[in-house]
Amino acid sequence: MSGYRIAWLPGDGIGPEVSDAARLVLDAAGFQADYVHGDIGWEFWCSEGDALPPRTLDLLRHTDCAFFGAITSKPAGEAVRELAPEFQSQGLSYRSPIVRMRQLLDLYICLRPCRTFPGNPLNYRENIDLVIFRENTEGMYIGVEFPEVPEQLLAIPAMKPIPPDAAISIRSVTRQASRRIVEAAFQFAVKNGRRKVTAVHKANVLRATCGVFLEAAREVAPLYPKIQFDTANVDAMCMWLLKDPLNYDVIVTTNLFGDILSDLCSQLTGGMGFGYSGNIGEKYAVFEPTHGSAPKYAGQNKVNPLAAILAAKMMVEWLGERDIARNIERAVAAVVERGAVRTYDLGGSASTMDVAQSVAESLRFAHAMR
Ligand code: IPM
Ligand code: MG
Repeated sequence: MSGYRIAWLPGDGIGPEVSDAARLVLDAAGFQADYVHGDIGWEFWCSEGDALPPRTLDLLRHTDCAFFGAITSKPAGEAVRELAPEFQSQGLSYRSPIVRMRQLLDLYICLRPCRTFPGNPLNYRENIDLVIFRENTEGMYIGVEFPEVPEQLLAIPAMKPIPPDAAISIRSVTRQASRRIVEAAFQFAVKNGRRKVTAVHKANVLRATCGVFLEAAREVAPLYPKIQFDTANVDAMCMWLLKDPLNYDVIVTTNLFGDILSDLCSQLTGGMGFGYSGNIGEKYAVFEPTHGSAPKYAGQNKVNPLAAILAAKMMVEWLGERDIARNIERAVAAVVERGAVRTYDLGGSASTMDVAQSVAESLRFAHAMR
């Protein structure tokens, strides 16, 4: 092993502290790599007019993969007001760096496993084991938005229902991107002994965009006859997930619906303290806890680091270090089950680093017993 070069992007808010926690666990697990720090986050937006500076993108292009903590985003007006004076009048607009990373590096899979750990007091039900495949490059997230309707658009007859003072966000869904995310979901199902893939949409209303997605899903599904396939409208899916979460397995959906459903599924399985993601493309991937930067908790060493630790686990798994990944997951499971070291979200008073230390000890203990 070794020789991995990892872009290490702690970001801001609670990003740095949960990243430190993840790093402590990676070291304790015996994972060897060079970590190269990358600048990302709100401070670079304010000082340089870019929250994801070109040097960081360059770093991403020259490493094996990246670990990302979290970053703060603020609404458009506030973002411009916080810019350094020399950037104020340049017409810059803030776009979330994680969304940009996903698009610029074509990390088309957002993989979000949501599985209960036994003994977690926040489990909605026991034995929930869902995996979300969220399309990560298009849909409502393409960033084509108009705070006011452009005149040229109003000239198109089909745009007539749009009042002139409306704001518009464009949703674009392609057949090609839909097919590849659905294929990824089915391939995952086959490789991991999963029984079912559910494609989630809203094709009864969003007939064009969800129509393309649903059609692509229906074309791909028969290529995997051993995996059951079903479809659900996203609104009904929220209801069904609460009513009968054990009935679902792999869920595949478009970008915004995946964003929404993955928070719901995180809450079913312990809350955002357990939600982690892989943003995965053909050759590169960025791993992150799904929670945001939670500025109000920043610097308090208080938040649950398990999401970040599980993101690190997913990273080493993606790199092919299966044993290390398995050990980390077991150590997390042991800490959760024992319940002695818990952060506030789980009703405890342990710190972020206490939990990381406890996972690290559990790893060392398991190692010593071998
Ligand atoms: C997520 C987050 C991001 C998203 C935000 C931070 C832009 O909510 O990863 O789920 O909407 O994708
Ligand atoms: Mg989200």
